[in-house]
Formats: sequence, C-alpha cells, structure tokens
Amino acid sequence: MQGMRVLLGITGGIAAYKVAFLIRLLKKSGADVKCILTPASSDFISPIVVSTLSENPVGIEFWNKSDGTWNNHVEYGLWADVFVIAPLTANTLSKMAIGSCDNLLLATYLSMKTKTIVAPAMDLDMYAHPTTSRNIKQIEQDGVEVIPAESGELASGLDGTGRMAEPETIFERVQAFFTKNQDPRLAGKHVLITAGPTHEAIDPVRFIGNYSSGKMGYAIAEQFLAEGARVTLVSGPSKLQLVHPNLTLIRIKSAQEMLEVVQKNWNDCDFGVFAAAVADYRPADVAEQKIKKSSGELTIRLIKNPDVLLWAGTNKTKQIVIGFALETNDLESNAQKKITKKNLNFIVMNTLQDEGAGFGYDTNKISILDDRNNTVSFELKTKTEVANDIVAYLKKYI
Ligand code: CTP
Repeated sequence: MQGMRVLLGITGGIAAYKVAFLIRLLKKSGADVKCILTPASSDFISPIVVSTLSENPVGIEFWNKSDGTWNNHVEYGLWADVFVIAPLTANTLSKMAIGSCDNLLLATYLSMKTKTIVAPAMDLDMYAHPTTSRNIKQIEQDGVEVIPAESGELASGLDGTGRMAEPETIFERVQAFFTKNQDPRLAGKHVLITAGPTHEAIDPVRFIGNYSSGKMGYAIAEQFLAEGARVTLVSGPSKLQLVHPNLTLIRIKSAQEMLEVVQKNWNDCDFGVFAAAVADYRPADVAEQKIKKSSGELTIRLIKNPDVLLWAGTNKTKQIVIGFALETNDLESNAQKKITKKNLNFIVMNTLQDEGAGFGYDTNKISILDDRNNTVSFELKTKTEVANDIVAYLKKYI
C-alpha cells in the first residue's frame, strides 16, 4: 500500500489499544497514516503512542489548544484515500447514523470524499440491541463498509459477539479496498517513468544540471504503483527514495545513460511517462582531471544530447507515451507542436509563470493537451494530486 493515505479514526472503547497493531501493519505496508481520536478515546490509548507509531501529529479537537492551529476536517477529507474507524463505539455509530457532528472525527466523516470502513466494538448486549442493528444498517445504506464484530471474550468478562475484528482482519479489508479500486487496464502493466534532472559531466567534480527535484516523476510512480502497475523509474540525481515490491528504481546521471536504460526497457512497456528535466546539451569533452582555474575565460563547448522522449515516441509500438513541457510563452501551440514532433499521446504542460508551480515546489499547476485536440487545465495542486490527475486522465484516454 505504498503511498496510500489511510486516515484512522479511533473512538473510546477498550479495543482502542489494539489499534497500535493496526497502525504498525499499515505503516509496514508503506501506507501514510494519520489519526483522529475522539476526546474519549485518549483514555484508552495515548495520543503519544498513536502519533509515534503513525509518524504524524494526532487530531483530537478542532483547535489545538497549545498553539491555536485549526485541525481542518475538510483537509483530512481531501487527504485520505480511505477512512477507517476502529474501534467504532455504539455512541459514535449512532452519531454517524444521524449525521451528528459534535467532534473532529464526526466532522471529518461528514467531509469524507472516499470510502469509510468501520470496525464496531462493544459489549454483546449493546451489539445485539435493535438500535445498534438499525444504526449499522443505516450507515451501510450511506455507503460505509462495516467489518462485523467477532465473537469471543469481551472486556466485561462476558462471552459473545461484540469484539472488534482483529487488526489483521481490518488491515486485509483496507488492502482489499485498494485492490478493488485498481483499474484492470493499469494493474500488472509495465510503466516506464523518467524523473529528476540529468547531470552532464564537465570534469570529475563538476557538471551541468538543473533544479529539478524529481518530485513530480516520483509522485507519478506512486500513483501507478497504487494502481497495481509494475514501474521502472529511471531517475536522475535526486534525494528522493521510493521502495515498493513492484518498483525497479534505476538511478542514472546523464541523458545518454537515461536513453540507454529507456532503450533496454521500452519493448516491454505499456506506458511511458517522461517527467525528467533532461539537459538538452552536454559538454563536448569531459576533462579526465579536474579543470584548474587559469587567469582568462573558460569556454565549454556543448553538444546536443539525445532526446529520450523523441526516441521513445518514434519507437512506439503499443505504448501510450506521455511527455512533459515547461513553456514560458505560446504555451499551447508549443505543446501541440511537441505532441506531433515527438509522436506523443498527450503532454503535461506546466509553466514557471504560475506561482508555486515547477522545479522544487511541492505543488504544480498543469494543463493536459492530447493528440485528439482536447485541452484540460487544472488548479494549483500538490504534486501527489497532480499525479493523480495525470493517471485519471490516462484512464479516460485509454
Ligand atoms: N526530454 C527528453 N530528453 C531530452 C529533452 C527532453 O526526454 N533530451 C523530454 C522531457 O522529459 C519532457 C519533454 O521531453 O517530457 C520536454 O520537451 P522539450 O522539447 O525538451 O521541451 P522543453 O525542455 O520543455 O523546452 P524546449 O522547448 O526549450 O525544448
């Protein structure tokens, strides 16, 4: 579940202690986890434990009393790929059923744009009560997935149905939710992605490069991995890390090296996304020793680098090819020309004129132009959201 964003709501029941194990399972699988606690649940599990295990601050109140910052339920709703509430008490269940909204967790539930999965936990008589059954039915009708409580020994000492499903069971249901959402046209497919800058050597200690961080390409890789695709990520020098069983990360330095890796893998690929900021030129001669300074000027003669994307587009057999363009003027007509010249299916265009867009930022503002003369412009968004938009566009395109 690399990169999947799991929002975990914890309500005030004894089973809350088991949530520590659930957080561990989710984190181990690569998911990003954020937690919201109802005020009552911190009597059952310490927010410090939750925050430490999830590696994120914990939301409890609408306002953090210490610094006055706002825990924005709408932002939680936008962030989450799935909302899991475990344990779900009879009290919170009843409030969900009627749309009550008197704490951060409930306001977040009402703001949720994605699936909510709940694991109720209560004493056997409470669980068997007609009110509980009615409320469960109601939230199921509202689209919530309910993981039934299990039978066994309860905190009251009684034996019966009411125990929260085991963390492993909840984890499997979350995993199944993500697999279910994978598009069969992407799952199992091979995607080649280029990312980051290239460094073109001048001498053993110097290079020509650019400010690309690789964030956009890595975010796209995460989206494809979430769809169950196999990804070969050809990355220029970048500080970013990505680990996933379906990922082959190949680190290169120069455009020439990038081209060679692309050429080796291209036949086997179904999709190619060329997000790298490849240097168009490289020094004609690479000095074997460090160039010593002298009193006069230094001229470095540059020669043209191979265009990796052009090669891929020209050698396209079955692949869908997506290029990037960074334009500063005549945006659409330049991008359109690149679609034709490089034989692309579509091009993602961004411009440095947009505040917060481009190299190094966590955000980007793009337009997509395709070879069927469609153009779509998007708002300024995080690079993860932009990656999501690109993959969603691809799904519509194919
Ligand atoms: N690209 C590439 N190899 C190169 C240069 C660019 O693969 N040697 C790819 C980039 O990864 C990107 C697209 O081509 O997907 C960018 O196209 P390009 O024609 O280089 O445009 P810009 O760099 O945006 O600008 P310019 O118009 O100056 O060429």
